[in-house]
Amino acid sequence: MSDEPMNLTIDALMTERRTYPPSPTFAAQANAQPDSYTTDADTFWETEGRNRLSWFKPFDTLREWELPYAKWYLGGQLNACYNCVDRHVEAGLGDKVAYYWEGEPVDDRKTITYADLQHMVVKAANGFKSLGMTKDSHVGVYLGMVPEAVVTMLALARIGAAFTLVFGGFSAESLSGRLNDMQCQFLITQDGAWRRGKVIDLKGTADAAMADAPSVTACVVLKRGGNEVPMTDGRDHWWHDLVDPQSSDPASCPCEPMDSEDLLFLMYSSGTTGKPKGVMHTTAGYLAGTSTTHHYVFDIKPETVYWCAADIGWITGHSYIVFGPLVNATTSVMYEGTPDFPDKDRWWEIIERYKVTVLYTAPTAVRTHMKWGPEYAQKHDLSSLVLIGSVGEPINPEAWIWYRDHIGGGRTPVVDTWWQTETGMILITPLPGLSTLKPGSASRPFPGIEAAVLDENGHEVPPGTGAGYLVIKNPWPAMLRGLYHDDDRFKETYWSRFPGVYMAGDGARVDADGDFWLMGRIDDVMNVSGHRLSTIEIESALVDHPEVAEAAVTARNDAITGQAVVAYVTLKGGKDGSPEKAKELRDHVAKVIGAIAKPANIVFTPELPKTRSGKIMRRLLRDVAENRTLGDTTTLADPTVVSEIQARAQVEADKEG
Ligand code: WT7
Repeated sequence: MSDEPMNLTIDALMTERRTYPPSPTFAAQANAQPDSYTTDADTFWETEGRNRLSWFKPFDTLREWELPYAKWYLGGQLNACYNCVDRHVEAGLGDKVAYYWEGEPVDDRKTITYADLQHMVVKAANGFKSLGMTKDSHVGVYLGMVPEAVVTMLALARIGAAFTLVFGGFSAESLSGRLNDMQCQFLITQDGAWRRGKVIDLKGTADAAMADAPSVTACVVLKRGGNEVPMTDGRDHWWHDLVDPQSSDPASCPCEPMDSEDLLFLMYSSGTTGKPKGVMHTTAGYLAGTSTTHHYVFDIKPETVYWCAADIGWITGHSYIVFGPLVNATTSVMYEGTPDFPDKDRWWEIIERYKVTVLYTAPTAVRTHMKWGPEYAQKHDLSSLVLIGSVGEPINPEAWIWYRDHIGGGRTPVVDTWWQTETGMILITPLPGLSTLKPGSASRPFPGIEAAVLDENGHEVPPGTGAGYLVIKNPWPAMLRGLYHDDDRFKETYWSRFPGVYMAGDGARVDADGDFWLMGRIDDVMNVSGHRLSTIEIESALVDHPEVAEAAVTARNDAITGQAVVAYVTLKGGKDGSPEKAKELRDHVAKVIGAIAKPANIVFTPELPKTRSGKIMRRLLRDVAENRTLGDTTTLADPTVVSEIQARAQVEADKEG
């Protein structure tokens, strides 16, 4: 963790003092009522666990807490797929729409009811089983936003096979790293994925990854892009050959009874070292936590048409496109492509078409639409919206207000929800109908959650005073159960800085009303477009290039993406950089990690600023990246290095215009 003072720039947010009290009409019908906050945590989660989930065998112990390990709903048995699909069909909801799916190519649409979903899942599960997949299998999934991604997750849950779904933008190396770490025997992927009118070759990336992941012995390939792909005999199977002929009768493939604490999936996430962490989520607590928060935070009603516009490859997609909404028998929208294809009003067209009532997206998307201008939204009738949400990074008040005025029609509540891959579920959020909203504040801990802000010495910072480290003091159902095969890192990362509490890695302050203001990461982790990237991971990718001697990566604020990656690079043999070399290095980072990690700027420098003990002074590099007056440079081994870098960064900035 960084020993430098945390970045307080988001303090500026607090100058915005407008508040939005709940409307009485919304409050009267809201799922969250004043007693939601007052029920004690154990009673709350006990009731939600019993009522919201269906159990093959009821749990007998609510929770066990042996710091830092929590277990929830012990003694219970259930199945995630049964809770998401089968029981809804059995309860007579077979004709209810589960997903309005829309492909990126226009007019490519599917309406998938809960009965359809059950048939698709049963067929897929039977197909997977015919390859030898069992409850003990580990499965990698590398799919885009196709219905089969949801179907695959549910089919694996039905069988009881733990999976890791890897975001389609990740590179072959990132994919093989995850397949190897989890020792996956199977990979489910697709030929190509649509993105901005073009087909991206996923199978090619999957092939390159499998070449480095010998544990994978069978691969299922969904035809989607129609691009030509090589199929390896004995290993690769077309989805349609394998799945289409299977029985769709649920009795042909019963839901495997799983223990509450059985692993459901791993989600790999960037941390402060080069190696992504395998965040573990188990069955019952995860389902209870995601569905309960989904119900209250988004005020889900039987008639809700809900759209979480995230990608399924991130935790937001797992928790709030798939498991949370399906447990609640919600009707969702799922969209395959980019917001600007064929034009910049695609999202608003979708909202109008399906009469979406709840929209959940990220600040970076809001700022992008803001940049494009409100005229795209104005072309469409968005009056169906009753609530809009935000997640991924602090939302600046300007974007919050734009979002509410131009998308929410100046009328809907905005829920700014704080959570993480590790927390699995929303932990700090307004409750619509109850909370007085403040643009820029994520409001208060969800019922049953105890959050606090601590100073350097672990003392609680009193509300209305200063900033500090955000911690969670008690266990919650969807919390991570550890890092896969890496207990030491689990304890070190989250539980060592302040004994007895979970340290989130975010700076925060609590105002005099008790509302939380999140201020960004306090460690060497950046947040680009709502996704976590580690500085060290990108530095390693740069140094991996044969011509790079040394690299330091930092973030600067960016109007659209929140933060942008700035890399300072020293080439071997004192060589000078060039725009061509910069492009080559950017492409190299994309190859090693994925395009999301590409540096926005690369500054070539003959030397990096270091302390006499050889530590790179990241604080100075951040100041340079932000164009700030430099702090103390007296501890530098060679103070002239910084002015040189500043001059070069300036040239770089002029070029970018
Ligand atoms: C980090 C977690 C959880 C889904 C998306 C990202 C930042 C997330 C907010 C918010 C301020 C936020 C934090 C957190 N973050 N939501 N509403 N306000 N910051 O998941 O990749 O695990 O990243 O995102 O810094 O630690 P993730």
